[in-house]
Amino acid sequence: MDVRATTEAPGETGADTIAIGLFEDEGIAHDTPGGALGALVEAGEARAAFRKLALTHTDGKRWLVAGLGKRDEFDPERARIVAGGVLGRARELGARSLCWELPHHVSDAHAAAFVEGTVMGAYEFKMFKSGGDEDDDGPELGELVVSAHHDVAAPVETGRIVAESVNLTRDLQNRPANDLTPTALTERAREIADRHDTLSLEVMGRAEIEAAGMGAFAGVAQGTYEDPQLITLRYDGPDAAGPVLGFVGKAVTFDSGGISIKPGNKMSDMKFDMSGGAAVLGATAAIARLNLPVKLIAVIGATENLPSGRSMKPGDILRARNGTTIEVINTDAEGRLVLADCLHHAVERGAERLVDLATLTGAIVTTLGTTYAGLMGTDDEWCEEVSAAGRRAGEILWRLPLHPEYAELIKGRYGDILNAVENRRAASVTAAEFLKRFVGDVPWTHLDIAGVAWDTNKAYAPKGGTGYGVRLLVELASSITP
Ligand code: BES
Ligand code: MN
Ligand code: ZN
Repeated sequence: MDVRATTEAPGETGADTIAIGLFEDEGIAHDTPGGALGALVEAGEARAAFRKLALTHTDGKRWLVAGLGKRDEFDPERARIVAGGVLGRARELGARSLCWELPHHVSDAHAAAFVEGTVMGAYEFKMFKSGGDEDDDGPELGELVVSAHHDVAAPVETGRIVAESVNLTRDLQNRPANDLTPTALTERAREIADRHDTLSLEVMGRAEIEAAGMGAFAGVAQGTYEDPQLITLRYDGPDAAGPVLGFVGKAVTFDSGGISIKPGNKMSDMKFDMSGGAAVLGATAAIARLNLPVKLIAVIGATENLPSGRSMKPGDILRARNGTTIEVINTDAEGRLVLADCLHHAVERGAERLVDLATLTGAIVTTLGTTYAGLMGTDDEWCEEVSAAGRRAGEILWRLPLHPEYAELIKGRYGDILNAVENRRAASVTAAEFLKRFVGDVPWTHLDIAGVAWDTNKAYAPKGGTGYGVRLLVELASSITP
């Protein structure tokens, strides 16, 4: 989709469909010469309540009036949702070029959010569909124009880059596990790294992971024929200041559970178990495209988790690179094993503030559903900074506690720690207590994104991968800049 900003009036832009927002207790800011929009409001057809939509035709174009609700409740997340709704209707109507009239007196963050909602809402995963382009949803929208009285080119461009990066992440998530293998993920990372002088890529395969003594990661990978990949991207932004960020993502490209095999119901969704890693890659791509003045180490731990004659078994004891020995209680608690060595690796490579993203526990889905991701961590200030970035990005987090009693639950019997608690007590927070053993004293925040990574049913997130985390990480990197 082409995206551009203009100071021309919507009717002058050549768009075939024009979207105009309506706040409660306010009128239409700019009506058509014939007063068609005011008439639509008068008739009670166009309403200001949030997400309401009304349509009229005049001057040879379609005009969509979109309810924005109350002005003081209209945050950028609402702009994304409205934009996603308008995009859906515009496509049904066969629109090829859409112009949004930016409401008066909204921030740059809102302008970016209108673009994000539109570009994210237009996302489709068609890589494996045979046949033509035109489908039930109508033709593809080729162009989005944002019209405002002042110049909004900069936030419009930022919104486009962020949304395209979200969609890049969604593509990775939605690709099936026989296509998106760990090495295919590396290929995608390499394409991105090759495009930017500020990015450098380092990849470790099975031999290197084993040689480095990363026995936790290697333990998960030992059951599959696919080569595991520890992908490290280093980003050196221009005039970078502030602490070196470390983003770490779980990328289990398929999680069968291993020997502790999962039941078959919905197991196909476990192709999404690489969502954390995909978000880290998408965010890194966006940060590089935006040229943000930060230093970043992005670490992605990619492997399959499969049962075979070579798989790790319950009772096995693994030794992570930091020396910790781990008793494998359940081979399905594999994400924390992969992350253990990845987190330690990020610290070794110089990360000074850590955020990890992982589809780590089913329990977080039970607890928070598809609304909040879970946040757990060591450093209150850092946790709050990450949380605030999530609020600004419309990717919200709810913090769960750590506690010495939870740490007690994963104490090992034959080794140092257990990878799971047999009775599944406090499953999400004991997973975090496990990870905590691998971050040293670096401020660290763990985001359990199992509930929000796919199928969240939002106006701007079609079924499948959501790209959750990309916006949050980009926002975090933008705000860390002094
Ligand atoms: N990838 C799963 C977590 C998951 C489950 C994400 C369902 C999304 C939907 C993870 O590897 C896992 O299997 N976790 C186990 C841990 C348990 C064995 C301690 C879980 O949550 O059941
Ligand atoms: Mn698992
Ligand atoms: Zn998993």
